[in-house]
Amino acid sequence: MIIKNAVLVDWRGVRRGELIIKDGVIAEQGGTGDIIDGTGLYVMPAFVDLHAHLRTPGQTHKEDIASGTRAAVRGGYTALNAMANTVPVCSDAEIAREVCEQARALGRCDVFQSVSVTRDFDGVTVSHLDGLDGTEGFIRCISEDGRGVKDGGVFLEALRRAERFGKALLVHAEDADFSGIDMYAAEDLETARDLYIVEMYCGRYGRERLKVHFCHVSTEYSARAVIAAKRRGLPVSLEVTPHHIALSDSVDFRVNPPLRREEDRAFLVKAVLDGEVDAIATDHAPHTETEKKSGAPGLVGLETAFQVCYTTLCRLNGLPLSRLSELMSLNPARILGINKGSLDAGADGDVVLVDLERETIVDSSEFFSKGRNTPFDGRTYFGGVVMTIKNGEVVYDER
Ligand code: DOR
Ligand code: ZN
Ligand code: ZN
Repeated sequence: MIIKNAVLVDWRGVRRGELIIKDGVIAEQGGTGDIIDGTGLYVMPAFVDLHAHLRTPGQTHKEDIASGTRAAVRGGYTALNAMANTVPVCSDAEIAREVCEQARALGRCDVFQSVSVTRDFDGVTVSHLDGLDGTEGFIRCISEDGRGVKDGGVFLEALRRAERFGKALLVHAEDADFSGIDMYAAEDLETARDLYIVEMYCGRYGRERLKVHFCHVSTEYSARAVIAAKRRGLPVSLEVTPHHIALSDSVDFRVNPPLRREEDRAFLVKAVLDGEVDAIATDHAPHTETEKKSGAPGLVGLETAFQVCYTTLCRLNGLPLSRLSELMSLNPARILGINKGSLDAGADGDVVLVDLERETIVDSSEFFSKGRNTPFDGRTYFGGVVMTIKNGEVVYDER
């Protein structure tokens, strides 16, 4: 495949030229092949989402692998990491393998499946993690996402196993004792505690392969804490979500962590501009209309992430598109340890063609996701995904 007449952008910067994908990977030069005319468009590495809820198994009325991966490619994603708060909880490699194989059979978007930190979210048992050797084909992360790991000693045991089996530990920082009292305290206390334990662990046991990643950091306090820990050399990283950088609590929408005060939102944007944030992840969390009405937290994010981030960060705040590419593609790919996220020769031939001048009004009735729960409905954003290509095959084409 040869993509002609487009502007190529990845974390290295912007260049003109053609992009060749041969045998599924990006190639220096190629012979002949399908020609795609990218006139007026930008070609970027496809996006990689560290954080999505695909509701499989057990809640396929909210989303399933088919609808979730269709939504993913419509949003420009060709790889994602699914969270473990399924029914049953994904606590073993067999469930994970099953989910990933379903996605593989569909061939649109690679799915990795996280395994829960504690078995069935019981808060104490971590022995199931000892079976994670040799699962890197489908499990890259462990995470209790949806809740925090209540017991600090259990968190420490999880760090040990994450390192031993080479999995990133994805942290949903929420101290449940405070969830009903103060959602700032809930996030900030647990972030501080987890960072303390990571620092203690590294001091005592070294950190050959440890990767601890803080999901959906939403407060200034927590962001500062993780950034400071990174500066001290700890193996930690942080993600922000499109909704926490674009919206504040003036919007009435239930999500966890909640939309925060304007000061927090502005701080997160500044942290992104200053190069302190590692990744943008959607926390795509589909619910039915009825569930949403009865208070289920979360929003669908795969199909709006690029527009929202491009508009909020690049158009309104001057972030170079190459930096957005780093946040949405390169860094998440590195955290997952996959060969995506750049336009270098040899990387997976996964790219997205975007139209930066297009202005669209979000219309949730057009979503490929089963979820319609979005705070972005009716809002106008710049930037649209025109085509998504995975290993040199078109997996989404709006034209
Ligand atoms: O808003 C949220 N939705 N936050 C979570 O932690 C879980 C997620 C979900 O699974 O619905
Ligand atoms: Zn979470
Ligand atoms: Zn989540």
